[in-house]
Amino acid sequence: MRVLVIGSGGREHALLIGLSKDPSVTELHAGPGNAGTSSVATNHPVDLASSDAVVSLAQSVAADLVVIGPEVPLVLGVADALRDAGFATFGPSAAAAQIEGSKAFAKDVMAAAGVRTAHAEVVDNPAKLDAALDRFGPTWVVKDDGLAAGKGVVVTTDRAVARDHAAECLESGHPVLLESFLDGPEVSLFSLVDGTTVVPLLPAQDHKRVGDNDSGPNTGGMGAYTPLPWLPDEVTRQIVDEVVTPVAAELAARGTPFSGLLYAGLAIGADGPAVVEFNCRFGDPETQAVLALLKSPLGQALNATATGTLDQLPPLEWEQGAAVTVVVAAENYPGKPRTGDVITGADGAGVLHAGTARNADGQVVSSGGRVLAVVGTGSDLAEARAQAYERISTVKLPGSHFRTDIGKAALDGRITL
Ligand code: GLY
Repeated sequence: MRVLVIGSGGREHALLIGLSKDPSVTELHAGPGNAGTSSVATNHPVDLASSDAVVSLAQSVAADLVVIGPEVPLVLGVADALRDAGFATFGPSAAAAQIEGSKAFAKDVMAAAGVRTAHAEVVDNPAKLDAALDRFGPTWVVKDDGLAAGKGVVVTTDRAVARDHAAECLESGHPVLLESFLDGPEVSLFSLVDGTTVVPLLPAQDHKRVGDNDSGPNTGGMGAYTPLPWLPDEVTRQIVDEVVTPVAAELAARGTPFSGLLYAGLAIGADGPAVVEFNCRFGDPETQAVLALLKSPLGQALNATATGTLDQLPPLEWEQGAAVTVVVAAENYPGKPRTGDVITGADGAGVLHAGTARNADGQVVSSGGRVLAVVGTGSDLAEARAQAYERISTVKLPGSHFRTDIGKAALDGRITL
């Protein structure tokens, strides 16, 4: 099977490494990929937001399967164009990708499916903002109702900060969503979905704030670990039965079945799981940890999803133990990151590339905010953390920063339900 992976981040590097271990995968291509993906795949420059460009690349490499990593091409309908051109495609239609592309659409689907989520109001008029803010708090959750790579969400106890973010979104022409704050530890549960069959992967936890002890602004994600020692298996089953399966069924009933990876982000509160958000693709950086423990052939699982045969896929098998991924970010991230810095030590085991490129001299340089995702595995969370931080110590990137506490609260038993 010749597989083309669309995207250029750490998630796509992890997908390519996973695919490279599947004996049924004979050729791997990345569009556009990054400096790290070229060690497992052939990189091809492509505008991933252009359906024509992606279809033409899939034709030129004669792809048997196309896997779309990021949300932007999905929301723009690149998967629809690939399917129309006859390619088996892993990733939802533009209509189903609205579960991530429009938070208001996601709320509507969840209401129809009877899924617990935060109470929310859409504000599209600055004149109505203050009255709406008064109906929320004392912790305000303000979301840009569009794609914002995780950085469009502000959670704050400071009303002025909430107001400034909402006003900024409205000024840039996006409605904002105000939400009630959901208390409880967060879980990212990814499921393969091919319409109505749902196959969950291992639950993971992201670390969204930039600094240790959850300090500083939100980011796209600074690190993750899996599995979650504090989450009983029956809660994972409850999430599948009461959240993911009803949402997949509701999307199918609307005539827009979801095919691809459905990402449920949840808070596990006193009343059980409640949805914080849905995404229409693998999460980054959780994927880097989750796939590190997958024993089953990844290509076969993604192909079964793309071809609507998930019900025939043997149960997924996982390595025992734990995996941890720690993101190395560029100076100033999550603000405008400094790029172009030379990186050394980024070719070892477990070092996945996210925002990297090669300069004119062939050196690996930073090209984005989240530059590397370094993965460690072990027989338990302590070993996996130790390996991740040991591997990170060999990486040199001027001005870079990373969190030192990924998985630490779980390890110390500080997360309880
Ligand atoms: N880890 C957060 C996301 O992928 O959106």
